[in-house]
Order: sequence, then structure tokens, then C-alpha cells
Amino acid sequence: MIDRLTVDRIYSAADIVEVVGDFVSLRKKGINYQACCPFHNEKTPSFVVSPTKGLFKCFGCGKGGNAVTFVMEHEGMSYPEALKYVAKKYGIEVSERELSPEEEKKNDDRESMMVATAFAAEWFSRTLWETDEGRSVGLGYFRKRGLADGTVTRFGLGYCPPKGEAFSTAALAAGYKDEFLVRAGLSGKRENGTLYDKFYDRVIFPIHSVSGRVIGFGGRTLRSDKKTAKYVNSPESEIYHKSNVLYGLFFAKKAITQEDCCILVEGYTDVISMHQAGVENVVASSGTALTPEQVRLISRFTKNITVIFDGDSAGINASMRGIDIILKEGMNVRIVPLSPGEDPDSFARSRSAAGLKEYIASNEEDFITFKTRILLGEAGGDPIKKGGLITEIVSSVAVVPDPIMRSLYIKQTASSMDIPHEVLASEVARKRISHDSDAQTRDFIRRQEEIRRRERTPESLSGPESGEDRPLSSIAGSSVEELEKELVKYLLKYGGRYFDYKEGRSVVSFNVAETIINDIEANGLSFSDGRYRKLYETYRELFYRLRTTDGTEGPEVNINETIGLHNFINHPDPEVCNAAVDILTDNDNYVVSKLWQKYDIIVENESDKLAESVPRTVILYKSKAIERIIADLRGQLGREGLSDEELAEVTFRISTLNRERMAIAKKLSRLIL
Ligand code: CTP
Ligand code: MN
Repeated sequence: MIDRLTVDRIYSAADIVEVVGDFVSLRKKGINYQACCPFHNEKTPSFVVSPTKGLFKCFGCGKGGNAVTFVMEHEGMSYPEALKYVAKKYGIEVSERELSPEEEKKNDDRESMMVATAFAAEWFSRTLWETDEGRSVGLGYFRKRGLADGTVTRFGLGYCPPKGEAFSTAALAAGYKDEFLVRAGLSGKRENGTLYDKFYDRVIFPIHSVSGRVIGFGGRTLRSDKKTAKYVNSPESEIYHKSNVLYGLFFAKKAITQEDCCILVEGYTDVISMHQAGVENVVASSGTALTPEQVRLISRFTKNITVIFDGDSAGINASMRGIDIILKEGMNVRIVPLSPGEDPDSFARSRSAAGLKEYIASNEEDFITFKTRILLGEAGGDPIKKGGLITEIVSSVAVVPDPIMRSLYIKQTASSMDIPHEVLASEVARKRISHDSDAQTRDFIRRQEEIRRRERTPESLSGPESGEDRPLSSIAGSSVEELEKELVKYLLKYGGRYFDYKEGRSVVSFNVAETIINDIEANGLSFSDGRYRKLYETYRELFYRLRTTDGTEGPEVNINETIGLHNFINHPDPEVCNAAVDILTDNDNYVVSKLWQKYDIIVENESDKLAESVPRTVILYKSKAIERIIADLRGQLGREGLSDEELAEVTFRISTLNRERMAIAKKLSRLIL
């Protein structure tokens, strides 16, 4: 772990133009620099680097950040790796903070499991290539399936012999401890204490992390008897979190960025065959149903996913489930239907690279067409079943977080199914309201879990590989989060501004930062999204410090100039930096806040409307936050062993809060109307 002082030194040394310039050829334009975005395919440059602000932003794909997060994104490095990279460039010595004994142990354990896993990958591969049995059985199988030797090498495929403990014996002899062999799921322990191989009698598919380290394996049996499971996969462990891993992503990420599209298939062999055929932007969710975390992993590289699943009914059902998960993360999804009996593997082997791309381009369907075709086929003109189909499509459209995309989908469904537009729109709205309250409950539970987890573990800056920090970023799309983002935006962009607010006959001048901070503190509220909470807390701290050192108040003090945006853009937490850059580069003149759009309020220019939007956002946020506290208290009511006194207390608080909520709701409706 790198200490705070060094991190600060790295940030102040890093010249964003130099760092980005090592990867992208920048052209000077005014005070900024411009280029074609390295994160998506484009012909006219919309990628901008601002040397004065120390940030980059692509106005095409939305990616933005500072010098260090650029290196993370571009090179797929973890945060510490990227920091070290920049440090090296500027000759800064990196002193790593001493870890506590528990952290040390945890890191060591993880590292020991990683090293044992790397050894296993090596051993399986050597056994495939260098033993007679490996060559005849394992390599023979791959060749028979049409894999070229180069492909076998590239994906690190291997072989584990049927003799039940050949690997474990070799690993122990090489000095690997049995504890770590077992914890990494490579070996099992017999009752007499000896080890056996978990993957015996199988060909081996190593599973890589995004940065290319082997973290687990899939082993396929070569026997066709029904009693043996077709695949054995590494178990969930400290180094392998299935729901956060996509098979093939390490090999595919470059092509995904270039093609601005990720093809999603089902299995190991599908990925490998597609690669061999020349289509490299392919990953598989192998072994698990697609998870939101996996979709978010893809969203680091592209917004577009094309699903190619098996042509059988299992494949179709899996696609159906996948669609909603992808839509919910705000991604675009297309589906390429295959005929029954075909899978991406056979599909890949039947065509050339150009042929595959051409087939995909001309056969891919958007999700509405796909669902309609499949379900209408089943419905066959039955009006009741057609009703079911509408419900089905409405529920998919309702999970799409972006209001503009949602209304486009509504339009398309209305015309393709010949249903009045208004009917569909109101169905979608209804569905969303029930989603919203679901999301709020989930949000609340997640927040509680997060708080509990934070109490247990010290703040860590481990990279994305650890999976530890990932859940933080998973809070997306809920309205509480949107409000928090909106509030932070007012602080960062307009904190120093004043607005006039009419109260009765008098006009009072309010400072934006003060209004927001006072209201939040007075109500004892705390942001639920980790990134916005950190931005808010950083701002608040600087704001208070400013006020105590500098007695001057009044319109002539520009708080934000004094506070300095670098405190946010170069925040020690990379996710927080990126959130800050997103907020700061949100284009004012554009349709403005999506939030107000959702409430059907159009604001022409956000900075001119502070007098309306700041109080409105504060109040709306308060009402949502109070709703959450009430929900929490309601939950407490159901707890066992509550004394009468406690019960009375909780009931009392609920009714007080309810009254407050009503008051706020009234005020809110006044402000909105
Ligand atoms: N899978 C699994 N366990 C099983 C069956 C399947 O984990 N018992 C996972 C594997 O990741 C597999 C994917 O689901 O790659 C798709 O399954 P399937 O289509 O049956 O396997 P293929 O990879 O296509 O294997 P093959 O082409 O050899 O039939
Ligand atoms: Mn298959």
C-alpha cells in the first residue's frame, strides 16, 4: 500500500498532457488538447485533455478522469499499479505504507494462493505439451476439435492426468503449502490428510483476471458417460469471485475497445473458437448466469453488448434473462439468434472472420424485436398471450435507466406492436414506480452492509482485482444517488455562488454551499453513495476550514476558487476522481439535468436556475432520505426482543418523521408546481 504523502507527490508531479500523450497523439486546441478517443471508435475527436484542470474527458463516450485513472483505464492496471507507473515516469520513489499484521496476512494469503494457481497453470500446460499422455489425450482432443496449436498456447490450455494426485504431489514437492492448494480449489484433502487433484482426468481452461493473472480453472472431462460432470470449475475463493469475472476478457479487452462492442457467449470453447476465427471481442460468463457485476466490468470498455447464445431453448432462456440485466446497467443490447443445434463454437468454425462479422451485422436484433419474435411465436395470435408479451416487453423497457433511451424504446414498441403510445408509456411509468421502491429497499440494505463492512475492515485502496471495493460502484440508477450527485454538482460547480430567494416580501440572498451543507448537517443525513459521500465530506471539511481561517463572508469571496477543484479531481480514491470529473464536465448547455427531466421539468441553463434548483434538490433529497430512515425504523419494529419502551420510542420517531415528511412533501409540491 502506498502512503498518502507519496500519492500526493505523484499527483502533483503528473502532467496530464505528458501522461496521456504517451498513449495518444494530442493536438493543441486553445488552452486544451484534443484527440480521437482511445476508449471508443471515432473519426472526429471528442477526447479533451485540460492541462489547467489536470483532467481528461471524452464527450463522445463519457469517460473522464485524471492522469492516474487514465493509465488505469487505458492499460487495465489496478490503482496501485497505475500510481507506480506514473511515479516511475517522474522518478518518484514509492514508499509503501506498512501494513497491519492482519492486512499483511490477508495479502500474503492471497498472494500464496495466486502463486500456487500460477504454478498449476504452468504445470497443466507443461503436462499437455511435454508428456506422452498429455500430447496424445489432451492435445489430441484440442486438435480434433479444430484448435490450432497457437490457440492452445495463447489461452494457456492444459491437461490434468487421470492419476488422482499427480498435480498435488508435484506442487507439494515444489514447496507449495497444502493449505493454499486447498484454499485455491486446486486440491482436495482426503480423510487421511493426503491431497488429491480436483481437476484430475480433464483438459484445463485457465481463467484470467482483467490484468492477465490466472485466478481459476475450468476443467472439461473427455469422457462421455453421463455420471461425470462435464465441467469442474474452481470454487469461489479470495482470489476468484465468479460473479466479477468474465472468461476471455483479458484477451478481448483491446478488441472490445476498438470495436466498441463486446460479444457475449456462453462457454470457454465458444470464446476460443471465435478468437481463432478472428473475432476477438468475445467473452463468456462461463459457469454462472450473467451478473450485474460482469456487465459493469464490460461497461469499462464499451456500452454495447451483443449476445450470441446457443440456439436451443436453454440458450434462448438465458438470453432473455441476460437482456434485462444488461439493460438495467444502462447498456445497449443486441441478440444474434442461432439456429437450434448451433452454438457460437460451431458458428465460428463454419465461417471466416469476415463472414462472421457480416452475419452478426446483418442478423443481430434489438431486444424488442428479439423478444417479440420469440414470444409472439409462442403466442401464435392468442390475444391473452399477446397481453403477456406486452407486459414482458414493458418490464424490460422499465429497467432502462436513461429516460431518453426509454422513450425511444417505447416508441419502437408502440409502432411495432401497434399499441397506442400513451398506453405503453403509462405502463412503463407504473412499472418504474414499483421498481423505485424496490431499488430503495435494496439500496438501503446495501448501505447498511457497507457500513458494517467498513467498520470491520480498515479503508483499503486495493485494486479492482481484489473484488473488495467493487460493491461501492454498484449503487447505480437509484434516485437517491441521482440526488446526491446533483447536490455534489451544485457544490463543486456553484458552491461559491449566491442566489436570491423570495420569502414573503423580502428577498434573501443565499450561498449555495452554505444552503446545502447546513441543511444536510442539520438533519443529520449522510450520503449513501460512497463516491458522492467522499466528495461531499471533502468539500464540507474545506468549506469549514475556509470559514474559520478567513472571517470574510459575502458575495465577493469565491469559495470554489479558494477551495481548489484539484482536491476532488485528484482525490486519493480513483472512483471518487472519476465521479468528480464526470460532474465537472457535465455540459451545462446540454439538456441539463436528467433528474429534472425525469420529473418533467425542463431547466434551460443550470447556473441561471440555482434559486429554483438548489432548494428543490435539497428538499427532494431530504424527503427521500427521511423515507429511508422511516423504512429502517419500520424494519426495527419487526425485530424480536424489543422492550415496550423501545417500541414506543421507535413508534414515536416514525410518527414524528412521518409528519416531517408530509410537511416536506407539501413544500416540495409547491416548489415543483
Ligand atoms: N458449464 C459448467 N458446468 C457444466 C456445464 C457447463 O460450468 N457442467 C459452463 C462452462 O463454462 C461451459 C459453459 O457453461 O463452457 C457452456 O456449457 P456447454 O455449452 O455445455 O459447454 P461448451 O463450453 O460449449 O463445451 P463443449 O463445446 O465442449 O460442449
Ligand atoms: Mn456450448
